[in-house]
Amino acid sequence: HPSNPQMGENPSLRAADCRAKGGAAGFKVAILGAAGGIGQPLAMLMKMNPLVSVLHLYDVVNAPGVTADISHMDTGAVVRGFLGQQQLESALTGMDLVIIPAGVPRKPGMTRDDLFNINAGIVRTLCEGITKSCPNALVNLISNPVNSTVPIAAEVFKKAGIYDPKKLLGVTMLDVVRANTFVAEVLGLDPREVSVPVVGGHAGVTILPLLSQVKPPCSFTPEETEFLTKRIQDGGTEVVQAKAGAGSATLSMAYAAVKFADACLRGLRGDAGIVECAFVASQVTELPFFASKVRLGRGGAEEVYQLGPLNEYERVGLEKAKKELATSIQKGVSFIKK
Ligand code: NAI
Repeated sequence: HPSNPQMGENPSLRAADCRAKGGAAGFKVAILGAAGGIGQPLAMLMKMNPLVSVLHLYDVVNAPGVTADISHMDTGAVVRGFLGQQQLESALTGMDLVIIPAGVPRKPGMTRDDLFNINAGIVRTLCEGITKSCPNALVNLISNPVNSTVPIAAEVFKKAGIYDPKKLLGVTMLDVVRANTFVAEVLGLDPREVSVPVVGGHAGVTILPLLSQVKPPCSFTPEETEFLTKRIQDGGTEVVQAKAGAGSATLSMAYAAVKFADACLRGLRGDAGIVECAFVASQVTELPFFASKVRLGRGGAEEVYQLGPLNEYERVGLEKAKKELATSIQKGVSFIKK
């Protein structure tokens, strides 16, 4: 198989290995759950990212097919596929960044928390693999419920004695992407010009857009604030309902995941001033994890920013968000500690 050293001999692999080693500026990235609805477009977009020199695609199904397909793209990254748990270790060895979209998505009527029973175990297994094969890698966790899976990952890493809070990031970028889009629509602007901080967590009322801090500076009527906050919080459900049983956001999520991963890689490379929102270990509130703006650097989330001034509407939202977040975080922690 041309793209997978595990699956046989192929002379083109020599060239590929040379390229992989020669890519001085390139990073090694693994996607776990690479054959899924998010995983496939995410793999395609990462194969197009010039910062990536090696791309490992791992899944428990269909990894060889996706790998063969993506490997034919004439971009720089060398692609290798890994199928099933016995190949998890090889998939992870030497990775700089691990992106995890593995797990089941929502169907209409489900909350993200309804996914806990299945996805918690998947995330635990994958994170155990990371402790063994790439304990220093940056981890971008997408699998829901993010508010619980990030605490799960942290506990697994603590147990193994490798936990570095700066290197574990729950991906909330899709909430920011949606907020930028919806706010731009209301303001009649190009979404590329709009930047909305979204803090808290990644589920329902824990998603807290800070509309008082939108750039460029602007103001909203109370009705607009209510409409936008609700639409941003329910953006995922809007997609789940439209897909009517066929899953949740995959294409916009892959776009958001790559936007975030690219920021992480630029940080790892040493670029200055890379700031994005993520769900991380935090002292911004009394909760152990919270999403807010973070500065991404060589060590991961090197600085976690305070929330800044909130208006009354946001202060009320923050209290609601913290209440639900506390429960979700605790649920994740006890899953490993019990
Ligand atoms: P999907 O079902 O299309 O794909 C999931 C993939 O994970 C499948 O290919 C499956 O084989 C794989 N998988 C299952 N168990 C695995 C294991 N033990 N190891 C490796 N791979 C495994 O689901 P989709 O739509 O790609 O969503 C994936 C996850 O992302 C869901 O939990 C979903 O809720 C979450 N999500 C998160 C968002 C965020 O903003 N953080 C946004 C949208 C979805």
